[in-house]
Amino acid sequence: MIAGAAGSRQGRFAFGDSSALLAKAKTLGIEIPFRNNLDPLFQPLSIAGRILANRLAVQPMEGADAGPEGAPGPLTFRRYRRFGAGGCGLIWFEAAAVTPAGRSNPAQLLLNEATLDGFKRLVEETRTAAGPRASPLLILQLTHSGRFAKPEGKPAPVIARHDPRLDAIHGLSSDHPLIADSELDRLGDRFVATAELARRAGFDGVDIKACHGYLVAELLAARGRPESRYGGGLENRFRFLVETMRAVRSAEPGLLLACRLGLFDALPGAFGVDPADSTRPDPAEPEELIRLLADAGTSLINITAGIPALTAYFGRPFDRPAAGAAAAAEHPLEGVARLLGLAAGVREAFPGLAVVGTGYSWLRQFFPNVAAAVIAAGGSSIAGLGRLSFACPDFAARLGDGGRLAARDICVTCSGCSTLLRGGNPAGCVVRDPAVYRLPD
Ligand SMILES: Cc1cc2nc3c(=O)[nH]c(=O)nc-3n(C[C@H](O)[C@H](O)[C@H](O)COP(=O)(O)O)c2cc1C
Repeated sequence: MIAGAAGSRQGRFAFGDSSALLAKAKTLGIEIPFRNNLDPLFQPLSIAGRILANRLAVQPMEGADAGPEGAPGPLTFRRYRRFGAGGCGLIWFEAAAVTPAGRSNPAQLLLNEATLDGFKRLVEETRTAAGPRASPLLILQLTHSGRFAKPEGKPAPVIARHDPRLDAIHGLSSDHPLIADSELDRLGDRFVATAELARRAGFDGVDIKACHGYLVAELLAARGRPESRYGGGLENRFRFLVETMRAVRSAEPGLLLACRLGLFDALPGAFGVDPADSTRPDPAEPEELIRLLADAGTSLINITAGIPALTAYFGRPFDRPAAGAAAAAEHPLEGVARLLGLAAGVREAFPGLAVVGTGYSWLRQFFPNVAAAVIAAGGSSIAGLGRLSFACPDFAARLGDGGRLAARDICVTCSGCSTLLRGGNPAGCVVRDPAVYRLPD
């Protein structure tokens, strides 16, 4: 069965109190940890010699608001000033392309010599907004959008393997050429050179993005690349990511190395998927990869799942799908539980690695209680918030001051931000920030 092709079991958040939420979990046969005391969220954490003031993170969220050259634009500055002032111990900056051809849209950030000054200012303004008390760790996500590249606004796919469902998105034939090994060699160099620029811009660390069906993630399942150093067996499939990490480590020993890793791509034959049942994760290969990444010097793994273009609900459980996207084939709470389970599995297998957990926005005002319980139990080191950060960028400061999150201030998982991004528009919260972000009529 293709995940997402089954009948919709789309549920909605409808819980006035936590007991109703926990009762729903029980009827679904899943366990959602919960605690009233939020202290675990405000324990400092040391990662590779850096101290995070708390366990809350802004997840990487593309805003599609860069200038034509790829430098941060006015809305990019606004977003990161708000995140900076928001009190999180970690701000994971959105996907920035390492090459023009790898941009997901003409307004995606692109880091190169020409845009470096803009990135420097972005880092400075974020740090200034944060002030010395929070002093967040700043990580930049580096990417090539692969089959989802649209640098000029129309699809210009670069693919590493064939998959009938993914190829159908852009009508690619089964003989559409795969990116050559020589191009991948050059691209690896680009990642390393861009990591150097990220260090010069003032970031503390870089993430080589390996998730959501983009190029680096696609290589992890590239079994059918005849005579390629980057396909076939496991060592070859993992080569690009692992060797690039190693090369960044040796070129930039001062940078913290991180990886946003899709642990479960939720399609038959894809990475991290049980061969007997594509709706179930299989941790065997992801764990082997994480072992290699840790050996290469990676100290932080950020968990995610699914391919937004086909199975968004695996990675961002929602009440409503984005315009044109599939409804969920499961209750959103099941998606939340799967993401929590994936993070806990990595923590259990690699107790020495710091792990950012994902999938909390759907829990709305109860997310802090669930995140605190998960962290207290060792199921992740940090709780990352994506859509809720768009809706309520100062959620960490509010919680740190002993406040609670009011239902009226936070994300309602309406997928308005995803709809904006899918349409190539600047992305943000259409519900809580409507003066800036509006869905097209
Ligand atoms: C509009 C939008 C843009 C996103 N951009 C990125 C991105 O640049 N890099 C990334 O790894 N994930 C990206 N994501 C996924 C989020 O980081 C996050 O994993 C997802 O929203 C689930 O977390 P949440 O439930 O807290 O929203 C994006 C999600 C949305 C909705």
